Amino acid sequence: MMRKKIVAGNWKMNKTPSETVELIKALKPLVKNDEVDVVFCTPFVSLVSAIEAAKGSDIAIGAQNMYYEESGAYTGEVAPNMLTEIGVQYVVIGHSERRAYFSETDETVNKKVLKAIEHKLIPIVCVGETLEQREQGITVDLVRLQTKIALKNVSKEDAMKMVIAYEPIWAIGTGKTATSQQAEEVCAAIRQVVSEIYDQETAQAVRIQYGGSVKSANAKELFSMPNIDGGLVGGASLTTDFGNIVNYK
Ligand code: PGA
Repeated sequence: MMRKKIVAGNWKMNKTPSETVELIKALKPLVKNDEVDVVFCTPFVSLVSAIEAAKGSDIAIGAQNMYYEESGAYTGEVAPNMLTEIGVQYVVIGHSERRAYFSETDETVNKKVLKAIEHKLIPIVCVGETLEQREQGITVDLVRLQTKIALKNVSKEDAMKMVIAYEPIWAIGTGKTATSQQAEEVCAAIRQVVSEIYDQETAQAVRIQYGGSVKSANAKELFSMPNIDGGLVGGASLTTDFGNIVNYK
């Protein structure tokens, strides 16, 4: 089975609504590629503008977070139906910055994954190790565990539609990219753990991205690896280089 590649831009805390419209206008003609699903994950307040600006293109819009309850007394949080009502299709869950600065854990990641799926949002679940953990030799153990907990109580059918992003924390925003071999090794380990939890069919369907200093200069080599199905792109997604990343071939 051929998995369709997926390249998602994680805009992080960048771009006001008007800046979002400008950037999408500039990138729209550059990110056309029928062989790749393209997603822009913007800040919450820019989502409506992003959806409007992306009309008439194949660009899908994603949020960078959401809460795992339906509604209620959770000041400052955003519920899944607020995202689906405006036309958001994807949601990044458990980005390492959220784990590090906003106390997200494997358990809250799992709750968010289940809630996103319930609302037919496609989760892009982030996993990955610190430099210290890599040097200790526990990368694969850690990422296996993060993946297992994220997928707890997720059905096979839903798991098949998910996206998992392997993002080594030491490679995020540092200009240090994992080598294609390092990235492939961990993405293959993630696919292996998915096959252990479910079966080969599920493992072959789930899409696994690499993230961490992806740019056009390294996208081709990374995305050509057998277990890497595209990328989650931070810094470079805010520039015209994103068009070259989407058209990496
Ligand atoms: P980067 O960020 O491409 O700027 O390294 C990737 C990410 O955090 O998703």
